[in-house]
Amino acid sequence: MQTRVTDSIVEAAEFINSGEIVAFPTETVYGLGADLFNQEAVGKIFIAKGRPSDNPLIAHISDLAQLEQLVEKVPSNAKKLIEKFFPGALTLVLPKSSRVPAIVTAGLDTVAVRMPKHKLAQAFIKECRTPLVAPSANLSGRPSPTTWQAVLKDMNGLIACLLKGERTEFGLESTVVDCSRERACLLRAGGIGLEDLRSVLPDIVVGSNEDGEPVRSPGMKYKHYSPKAEVIIVDSWTKISPSDSKKRAFIGFEKIPENFLLSCICKDVDEYARELFLFFRDCDDAAIDEIYCQKVEQKGIGLALMDRLRRAAH
Ligand code: TXA
Ligand code: MG
Repeated sequence: MQTRVTDSIVEAAEFINSGEIVAFPTETVYGLGADLFNQEAVGKIFIAKGRPSDNPLIAHISDLAQLEQLVEKVPSNAKKLIEKFFPGALTLVLPKSSRVPAIVTAGLDTVAVRMPKHKLAQAFIKECRTPLVAPSANLSGRPSPTTWQAVLKDMNGLIACLLKGERTEFGLESTVVDCSRERACLLRAGGIGLEDLRSVLPDIVVGSNEDGEPVRSPGMKYKHYSPKAEVIIVDSWTKISPSDSKKRAFIGFEKIPENFLLSCICKDVDEYARELFLFFRDCDDAAIDEIYCQKVEQKGIGLALMDRLRRAAH
């Protein structure tokens, strides 16, 4: 298959409406979209990514009217989050309507919904005139793509079309909150910080339900992306004592005196988050042995950044 690279939302929407899959930018990472109501098209996503079929997909909408097609009801805690954070980097897990095909939700009775804020993403979904399911547009086991070039590297020849956009603003995936139970529960840290969620829902729980049982997003049981190199989380460069025969890389805030083959010095946590996945890809390409990643404070997007660093370090 030839992958068509375009900056026309009209052309990209035509691919969606003829049952093909299309990669597109959002403010978090690039997604791989299909018409939510076209089961055959949704199936193509799992094949192209090599994604296990028991890992459900996020529905992407361009306006709140589309929510009614997807969910049974909107619980009051979800209403509060929608008011404050839609459109944005927040995904809500809600009781699903019978119209949502089982392939989308991997047979669960809930559906995850997000309304991106990204202008091109919104215009594209609107042009498609249907909600789009979209996981991150990487091959399973690779980091989420934050540039159209990274999408093409993984997906060239496997998808019909790539809608070209800018580099993504956040660089990490959306925050996922389960609102299908009595108490809202944070399933995945992401672009919207926990403090921000707490300002709306003070009693939100983190990663466990009311009985204290761990509830996990199906996606969490899969090994998250980790680079070929060993990832080492450090406080600062003074703690580093690398062996000399190894190819080393560093990402963090300080100019460092060591001899690193690759380094990425960021001015703040936002830039660190934006750079991380592309830096990991560069490290894989350069056959780096060890990646030193500077620790960040777990607030704002720092919580998501530390989560991805810890997973990568495994
Ligand atoms: O920022 C993002 O969220 C990006 C962009 C493209 O929107 N998408 C993304 O999708 O990261 P994906 O498929 O890579 O991650 C979706 C996560 C997975 O961990 C999945 O298990 C979880 O959301 N999820 C989806 N539906 C769910 C449901 N009904 N209940 C619990 N978790 C769900
Ligand atoms: Mg993903």
